Amino acid sequence: MVCRGRWPLALGTIVVLITAAACSPERGAGHGADAVPATQPEPKLIHPAFNFVEEDFAALLDGMPQQIAAAIGEDPHGFLARVLDVLDESSDLTVLVDKEHPLAEEYRPTDLVDLDTLSDELVLSRPGHRLRREATEALLEMSASAASEGITLMVSSAYRSYEYQQTVYARWVDELGAATADRVSAQPGMSQHQLGTAVDFGCICRAFADQPAGRWMLANSHRYGYSLSYPEGHEEVTGYLYEPWHFRYIGRAAAALEQEYFDGLQHYLLTFLHTHRGLLEASRP
Ligand code: DAL
Ligand code: ZN
Repeated sequence: MVCRGRWPLALGTIVVLITAAACSPERGAGHGADAVPATQPEPKLIHPAFNFVEEDFAALLDGMPQQIAAAIGEDPHGFLARVLDVLDESSDLTVLVDKEHPLAEEYRPTDLVDLDTLSDELVLSRPGHRLRREATEALLEMSASAASEGITLMVSSAYRSYEYQQTVYARWVDELGAATADRVSAQPGMSQHQLGTAVDFGCICRAFADQPAGRWMLANSHRYGYSLSYPEGHEEVTGYLYEPWHFRYIGRAAAALEQEYFDGLQHYLLTFLHTHRGLLEASRP
């Protein structure tokens, strides 16, 4: 049937209706030269910056705890907008380092700052602390902000070389035995301190959680890109007992993503990025 759309008025209504039906895209598709091709609905992207449709997206959440998958599932567009910001930050800030993902023995950051040169602005437990430049800049800002509220953030440990971590770990093994030492101290190569972006604050003791500085850090550190690495009750995932004093600089965008969608649980965020960063990068049109 050829559908030109111009019909003599003499034709009855019924003819018009039949013709209209025959000219609909569904009926006309594939029949004759003038047929209107069938139109597939455009796949709907969740966010214009990523080629993800809903089915692809669901796979990203495999293995995530229920509360995290639910938070992301409620607002996938907002989530991908935050992820986009993280991809724009340096990827080495969010590298996964744990018992299954060690650093190479020879890994050493190249932009360590000697914190003694900033002793007017920082409170340091002893001389010799070093930290990567970007983490240092955020630490300066965070310390000034805390100080303006009457809170002192004392840096008690920062960068540790592979060799220094060997000494620290061996000390714990001597004191507690290997099994218990593994719950409180990273073996060489497995410490976030080797990254040069982790800082231990204050007394390096459980009491820090209830001290003003500990409470302030828990509530505010994410605004400066810092994140609690070993939260209470998550030893099974992180590999370590609660360390209320140990924070890692992961960048402001990553810290915001962690707060909003990962329930403040750094390990899940870092695992997500470790697993999917390649796919996320490749999905940017
Ligand atoms: N105490 C933490 C796990 C470290 O040794 O890096
Ligand atoms: Zn630490």
